[in-house]
Amino acid sequence: MFSLWAALILFIAYYIGLGPFTPLAKIPGPWYTQFSSLWIKYQEFTANRRVSVHLLHQRYGPVVRLGPNEVSFTSLDAIKEIYASGGSGYDKTEFYSLFKQFKIKTMFSTLGKDEHSKRKRLFAERYAMTNVMKTKPLAAIHERAMKFVAQCVKAGQKSVDVYVLLHCYAVDCVTHFMFSPGGLKSLDLEKDFEIMQELTYHQSLQKSLLAYYLPGLEPYFPAFLHPRSAPKANQYVLEMANQIELDNHSLLEKLKRKDSNLEIMQAAAECKDHMAAGIDTTGDGLCFLMWELSQPQNMIFQRRLQNELRNASTDAPLDSLVYLDAVIKEALRCSPPIPMSLPRYVPSGGRVIDGYYIPPHTVVSCQPYTVHRSDEKVFPEPDQFNPDRWLDTRDAVERNRNFFAFAVGGRGCTGKNLALVEMKILLREIYSRFETTVAPDMTGSMILDDQIISARPKGQTCKLVFAPI
Ligand code: HEM
Repeated sequence: MFSLWAALILFIAYYIGLGPFTPLAKIPGPWYTQFSSLWIKYQEFTANRRVSVHLLHQRYGPVVRLGPNEVSFTSLDAIKEIYASGGSGYDKTEFYSLFKQFKIKTMFSTLGKDEHSKRKRLFAERYAMTNVMKTKPLAAIHERAMKFVAQCVKAGQKSVDVYVLLHCYAVDCVTHFMFSPGGLKSLDLEKDFEIMQELTYHQSLQKSLLAYYLPGLEPYFPAFLHPRSAPKANQYVLEMANQIELDNHSLLEKLKRKDSNLEIMQAAAECKDHMAAGIDTTGDGLCFLMWELSQPQNMIFQRRLQNELRNASTDAPLDSLVYLDAVIKEALRCSPPIPMSLPRYVPSGGRVIDGYYIPPHTVVSCQPYTVHRSDEKVFPEPDQFNPDRWLDTRDAVERNRNFFAFAVGGRGCTGKNLALVEMKILLREIYSRFETTVAPDMTGSMILDDQIISARPKGQTCKLVFAPI
């Protein structure tokens, strides 16, 4: 009843002329978003934010008001301005404080750009392709890929839950990269498997949002409302952080150097963050990809991939496999593992974005899910999984510019090279040996299920059958 009255008062206020004086009055969007952010918060709590924002863009166009202080954009110009102007774009909002580790700010949860750029310099060399492609890290990724293949061979005609195995693969690869010669072996060892489970199977969306919107009250929340903790993963990272002998390609070796100026707990917090950043993104991305390739209507694409892989020599460089690259881009385009708005604050003085003046401190964002679907000239039939679109040389530059799965600019994904190499090595080993199809006992839902910023397959299961070719 109260909400009906509130809506009526707002409606009248709008029509007697208060609306045009609110700061974002000229931005297209539902009238009530001028006065209240309740609507968008409700969408967040009910895990509908991404779809609701997408529907608003379909209705109102490339610029949409989400609340009295929040606007969403989809154009390439807006992306460049928000995420890449001056190198790393606008500062992040307090939303990112949710991603502190051990209560310590990490590079990802750093809000201002000056502090961020100092920290970022520490990582650049380790995540550069030249380091990722060194013999040792490459051999470790390959070894994990072969463990994955062995599990598929062992299953024979039975179904394999690739959702589980892909998260094991992702966490094993990223922890090896950070802690080598340490690193999890969750594809082999039960105790390591439990760490993967702790990080992957959680329901924390509403609890994290409560902590974000009611920060002062969080200490008084009953235990069941506290955002997820990951005691096993925390303990593992702390043990690893104290390793003395580290391989000189590993991330931790760099972070522990004297000239890095990081306390041991800061180094541990960064590693915990990258462990979290590297498991669901790569795991879910690969899962959506294999699911798509296994659909009957997509067998044609699977065959093209198999042909490329089987005709290439075993030592062919990964970047010479163009169809493999196209399949990965298309999967990340259709189902970006981080599909939701990446919020930033408009700097002091305000800015003009897409022709609209946006006042300082307004929250602005683009969401990969919509950026990948909004311009049908760049991505025709955007909801169709079609890797072939990436082979068309016409408009290739435009397509690549609109690819936003790893974000762009100085705060874009640090782990992109590692993620792509992990994905390519695994897919090469799988699709040069097997044909995958959806298993008869697969009943879980594969629709995107929004988390706090990422999304995962709703059923958290993806059963496929692997037939040798
Ligand atoms: C397919 C896999 C991946 C995807 C799609 C992905 C996507 C993204 C996106 C969209 C962002 C920007 C988020 C924002 O601005 O809010 C990001 C940032 C980041 N990612 Fe990834 N990521 C992937 C894998 C990884 C891996 C494997 C690692 C590390 C091992 C990693 C580490 C990071 C870090 C540290 C940042 C923060 C960068 C900064 O603040 O400067 N990511 N990632």
